[in-house]
Amino acid sequence: MIILGIESSCDDTSAAVIRDGVLLSNVTASQAVHEAYGGVVPELASRAHQQNIVPVVDQALKKAGVEREELSAIAFTRGPGLMGSLLVGVSFAKGLAASLDIPMIEVNHLQGHVLAHFVREEGDDHTPPPFPFLCLLVSGGNSQIILVRAYNDMEIIGKTIDDAAGEAIDKCSKVMGMGYPGGPIIDRLARQGNPKAFQFARPQIPDYDYSFSGLKTSFLYNLREWVAGDPDFVEKNKADLAASLEHTIVDILMKKLRKAAKDLRIKHVAVAGGVSANTGLREAFHDHARRFGWTVYIPKFGYTTDNAAMIAMAGCFKYKDKEFCSMDKPAYSRVEI
Ligand code: KG4
Repeated sequence: MIILGIESSCDDTSAAVIRDGVLLSNVTASQAVHEAYGGVVPELASRAHQQNIVPVVDQALKKAGVEREELSAIAFTRGPGLMGSLLVGVSFAKGLAASLDIPMIEVNHLQGHVLAHFVREEGDDHTPPPFPFLCLLVSGGNSQIILVRAYNDMEIIGKTIDDAAGEAIDKCSKVMGMGYPGGPIIDRLARQGNPKAFQFARPQIPDYDYSFSGLKTSFLYNLREWVAGDPDFVEKNKADLAASLEHTIVDILMKKLRKAAKDLRIKHVAVAGGVSANTGLREAFHDHARRFGWTVYIPKFGYTTDNAAMIAMAGCFKYKDKEFCSMDKPAYSRVEI
């Protein structure tokens, strides 16, 4: 079983090859073009995908040492994501599958992030989480707690009612005049700052849901006031601001996750999505493992942001169950897990 995975939901064009459950290649072309705009520009993203898709797939096959004709199926991200971006990957997958006369497997991008925990490289001895487990999915577009009962049975038990955690980090970074994406910048600065230096608003939301828009507004209003009193405020305090922001967000995320794990009596807890690269969040997971006896699953850095390895992995699961899709499946920009 050799599966080619294709991912193009946002601003990363990625292709990966998995043979019998083992990852042979995972090639990603990221798009620096958006940095100047402080966020992803959809039209530019789809144009860049069009330029990247052929060389990226070609490289993934070459790196894997696999000929096109050897592929068993093509797994592709059908959604959610930016429509123009998705269309490039979906159309390419359809064309290639038709020309090779092999089945296509549609993958929900969010399920792909969760299944990144099952990606295995040659010689890897990591153990994937056993079902059921909880997965905190945190990215630029999502903040969700997912109860994962099986590879194809996932339930969102909590989600943000407004902004995602990554979005809040990116926006706070922007108002401080720092670059895009803000996540890695805040992470780096936070390591040198005091996480208790500043207090920001924390949401009072019931159940397992999140909210980050109040925190973002509180950050913005406080900052305006401080900068009015001292124009060099950000420069003088950037490490403390970053550390306090990160600390607040990690605290909010872990509090609801703790509640869900306790209520559902689940001790296998995973984290996925772009924000799972965050050092403070990773430390919090290890700390919870020590304090609450959790077994935690933290993805390798390469599988935190968008990648095709996770799509190919989802494809492997579905291939075994012969869960193929027909050529008439359109891309979808919005869909739940
Ligand atoms: O999953 P992802 O690559 O893409 C989408 O959301 O589509 O996540 C991107 C998000 C951005 O908000 C970025 O700032 C954040 O992940 N991020 C981080 C870190 N690295 C990326 N946030 C905090 N700390 C990081 N080290």
